[in-house]
Amino acid sequence: MDYKKYIAEKITIEGIGAEELVELIALPPNTEMGDYALPCFKFAKLLRKSPVMIAEDLKNAFVTDEVIGEVSAVNGYVNFKINKSDFVASTLKRILSEKEAYGSSNEGEGKTICIDYSSINIAKPFHIGHLSTTVLGGALYRILSFLGYKTVGINHLGDYGTQFGKLISAYKRWGVKDEIEKGGIRALNELYVRFHQEAENHPEYDDEARAYFKKIEQGDEECQALFKWFKELTLKDVQKIYDLLDIRFDSYAGESFFSDKMQPIVDELKEKGLLQESRGAQVVDLEEYSMTPCMILKSDGSSLYATRDMAAATYRKKEYDFYKCLYVVAYQQNLHFKQFFKVLELMGKDWAKDLVHVAYGMVSLEEGTMSTRKGNVVFLEDVINKCIEKAYTIIDEKNPDLENKKDVAKKVGVGAVIFGALYNSKIKDIVFSYDKVLTFDGETSVYVQYTCARANSVLMKGGAPETFEVPELTASEIELTKALANFPETVKDAAEKYEPSYIARFAVDVAQKFNKFYIDCKILSVEDEKTRNFRLALTNATCQTLKNAFGLLGIGIPEKM
Ligand code: ARG
Repeated sequence: MDYKKYIAEKITIEGIGAEELVELIALPPNTEMGDYALPCFKFAKLLRKSPVMIAEDLKNAFVTDEVIGEVSAVNGYVNFKINKSDFVASTLKRILSEKEAYGSSNEGEGKTICIDYSSINIAKPFHIGHLSTTVLGGALYRILSFLGYKTVGINHLGDYGTQFGKLISAYKRWGVKDEIEKGGIRALNELYVRFHQEAENHPEYDDEARAYFKKIEQGDEECQALFKWFKELTLKDVQKIYDLLDIRFDSYAGESFFSDKMQPIVDELKEKGLLQESRGAQVVDLEEYSMTPCMILKSDGSSLYATRDMAAATYRKKEYDFYKCLYVVAYQQNLHFKQFFKVLELMGKDWAKDLVHVAYGMVSLEEGTMSTRKGNVVFLEDVINKCIEKAYTIIDEKNPDLENKKDVAKKVGVGAVIFGALYNSKIKDIVFSYDKVLTFDGETSVYVQYTCARANSVLMKGGAPETFEVPELTASEIELTKALANFPETVKDAAEKYEPSYIARFAVDVAQKFNKFYIDCKILSVEDEKTRNFRLALTNATCQTLKNAFGLLGIGIPEKM
């Protein structure tokens, strides 16, 4: 039930449409006054009357019914009280009948959204900096799918550039096959670091590396095979993390995939007179748009990150005919995205407006919590494992007899990492703290998981009814139901703003309201059968809604904790 719309449609003010009214209707800070309120100050000029009089007139004209039971006019506001019993009944019925589909919709039907996320670099550590793009992208993938969009998850691999020539050179000089095979990304990274150290005294290594990179490009069999192997090792390694975080992709077409798809872009830029020479390089001037030039080709004719991204965007449009193409990438790359989006627009691609840079802030670790390996790299895998270990210790302390402690610790630990990255507005920089993300009584995923487990244990004892009658209601029951009713709107907003944090905050709000209800109202021990049954149904609906919300974030909920 969309109450704002319902109320707006029952009000007539000449010269003001129902849509405008919907926008104006607000939630009063105190529900004693009403559940919704329409401020009348804006109408004073139009109607040539005082807001107080307008509110009074609107109140008198409003016909109450079974949905809106009470209207009052106070200080220029019209306050509306909804019929609580009806509202509670319809909300819970909806949740209990829609179940895992509660909150979903088909608004995205027939539209495809590409999501470029995680987009790791081959042979480079998958570090804490990749956490946000991975879990934000994963959440957006699920949220948009939940709203009926066809989603294409793309891991735009960083698998192009002279660094792969360096890696081949380093491997051939110092690499041991078995060690690399076993060591995966870490071993590859060590080779890479060693190359840089040694190349300082051996500049000829750099020339060799460039030659190897050229060989990869020219299709040299041995070099291609090594490059492919590095790629496989990297992907095998990160797959462990993707499995933990429940992340998947539909495409791994990375930068090298576009190495033969850039010429048409360069040709078109030339044809349209957009290319300029600048110190031997080919660039698109963007001074008019207050940006530095976008580099398209280096002086030696090789392509750049932006060139490959332009080829990729063009390819995605052709391949998927996207409605939107999202890039979940840190704000440090703001300029890069603004530049190549602009260049595509200047080329006359009308779909350039559908490219969206979903920028997010930096994640760093609280100082001193983990020794950083060589040059400040903190491997994400280590962070996740440490969180799982810590979760295990806490659970073992609190509930030593719990079955499946390992599984529970995994859900709690992984959940804490994901939630820690998703709870704040995405653009904020965050400092990750193990202790903070694992507190039971904060705004954390464990708090929500623990609440759910508590609710679950009530349902195990009392049953989980799907039908009920509404008894005399208490304030905490109404507040909890109101929170649950916000879910569909929250999912929609989260999708519109690319902000999974809305869902994370929603879950905490519901959990807090459930706990208040749990303290205020007896459930199992209440005598009246109708009340007991209703409270169990409300508990059931809470569990379902929290499961749906956490599912969208990629966080599991243990049955028991
Ligand atoms: N691999 C890049 C990095 O780690 C991110 C790629 C983002 N996607 C893109 N289409 N540019 O910085």
